[in-house]
Amino acid sequence: MAIAHIVQKLSIMQSKILREKFIKFFQSKGHKLLPASSLIPTDPSVLLTTAGMQQFKDWFSGEVKPKYGKVVTVQPCFRTSDIEEVGDNSHLTFFEMMGNFSFGYAHLVPSLGARQDKSFGSYFKKEAIDLTYEFLTKDLKINAQRITVTIFPGDKNKNLPLDSESFTSARQIFDDKQILMGSSEDNFWGPTGDEGPCGPTLEIFVDGIEVWNLVFNQYYCDKNRRLKPLALKGVDTGMGLERLAAVMQGEKSVFQTDIYSPILAKIDNLLIESKNVDLPRSALILADHIRGITFLSAEGILPANKQQGYVLRRLIRRAILHGFLLKLKKDFLKELAQVVIAQLGEFYPNLVKNKEQIISVLAGEEDRFLKTLQRGLAEFEKIKNKSQKDKIISGAAAFKLADTFGFPIELTEELAQKDNFKVAREDFAKAMEMQREVARKSQKVSSGSANPKLHTACHLLHQALREVLGPHAKQAGQDVTGEVLRFDFTHPQELTDEQLRKIEQIVNQKIKDKLTVTSKLTTVSQAKKEGAIALFEQKYADKVTLYDIGGYSKELCAGPHVKNTGELGHFKILSEKSAASGVRRIKARLH
Ligand code: ALA
Repeated sequence: MAIAHIVQKLSIMQSKILREKFIKFFQSKGHKLLPASSLIPTDPSVLLTTAGMQQFKDWFSGEVKPKYGKVVTVQPCFRTSDIEEVGDNSHLTFFEMMGNFSFGYAHLVPSLGARQDKSFGSYFKKEAIDLTYEFLTKDLKINAQRITVTIFPGDKNKNLPLDSESFTSARQIFDDKQILMGSSEDNFWGPTGDEGPCGPTLEIFVDGIEVWNLVFNQYYCDKNRRLKPLALKGVDTGMGLERLAAVMQGEKSVFQTDIYSPILAKIDNLLIESKNVDLPRSALILADHIRGITFLSAEGILPANKQQGYVLRRLIRRAILHGFLLKLKKDFLKELAQVVIAQLGEFYPNLVKNKEQIISVLAGEEDRFLKTLQRGLAEFEKIKNKSQKDKIISGAAAFKLADTFGFPIELTEELAQKDNFKVAREDFAKAMEMQREVARKSQKVSSGSANPKLHTACHLLHQALREVLGPHAKQAGQDVTGEVLRFDFTHPQELTDEQLRKIEQIVNQKIKDKLTVTSKLTTVSQAKKEGAIALFEQKYADKVTLYDIGGYSKELCAGPHVKNTGELGHFKILSEKSAASGVRRIKARLH
């Protein structure tokens, strides 16, 4: 991509205006503007928010009565599934999904007493298609002839018919040649996670680029993948702002829009020797990843070995690799994150609020990984040379790259693929599992003879840390077997004296309050609903014990604990220091 083209791209339809237009249009049609949900979804069966509808799953399924009939949102979404494609014209790991939603529509079963009064005003296929058409052709003034739509053709395997209602509605607006039969896979959406609402879709293309997906939630897919018709139906739509911007700005690639031009200009600026020619694919990958990285960090997620933290670490390290290949000046992640924050901070104040935290996490991770990256790449070359015959990177070698040099397995695979090498993933997984087993065993030994007073103090400390530092502060390990408690938790920087004093004060106050400690058997999902802290690293059984300290701290744990915090005496922090990358360690005692 030529730099001359991307610098200071002044376009009539800036992405910011498109976002505003979308919101205003649907507000004018009676939709309630609701805030985006967190990138960490409430649904525990999915890791990250991948669609605008996720926060409304319960409304669609009928489990919870919808608060509004019509809603509009702009939802930051994250999809690792497209990571390999990033760098082409349209695929991204992070994007903003603009969507309009309608809930509780029951025209087929009015006897259910569904809310169809004007104030609730929910709608289904025809109205959804009409609204879409009006927005694209009237508000955005897209020539209707540039639009084509695809219809769900039916699915023999699932015993589902052609979506004739959408077909009929589309024919009232579009010429026949603009309406195509889609495929049973592409034109059926959902559920996200293990189960949930789903249904046929109508997809909208402008100049052949898919921009908008209209999902008609009329089924519920259960855990056994069985479909049941939903009594109350709903509409869930999603339009990628980045793709719409490309269409409106007359560009083939999302990377040529005003969304990416400031980031790419900064990358060019960070090149040790500015080439002022085409930026390679590495630059596009970096431009995509930095947005996801910034948003994930703003949520308080820290790079880690599991779950959301792993996705973040993988993304950061891949971004660092490409920054390294581009030979960017040091601190490039931090510099690029600042561009993203400046660009989107107005619409997403969370970015501005957590700027310091984001910057410090990125600077730390770049610093650490750059230290081992070069040596890791040299090791990788050695491994490759040794495996020339079968072109397979062994599980042990991949494990060494992960364990010693911090290479996420996907990074090793990406590097291997370039030279037509394969990675023995199963053997790698076995090596990782073995290491975890060793860690589990040593953890067991240390928790066997736990001191209940120190253990309860740990729960209070955990909650106090979250109160003072934020929800990213999570237990990463503990030892309560001796006189002194050791508590490890995720946090990027050293704690200030003031923070330490405050934490100590809170714990001592909770001791003075003589809080009762209770426990009950429950399920993991129920415990999460109650806001209990659960450690992602752990595999929980069907039934778990939830310890509740006077409503102040709720945590899944096997105990043992004291009956009342009054038994603890006085809590004193002895030291606070780094335990591992992004992990701090507090030592404290009771007396
Ligand atoms: N939920 C639909 C999608 O993600 C709109 O495409």
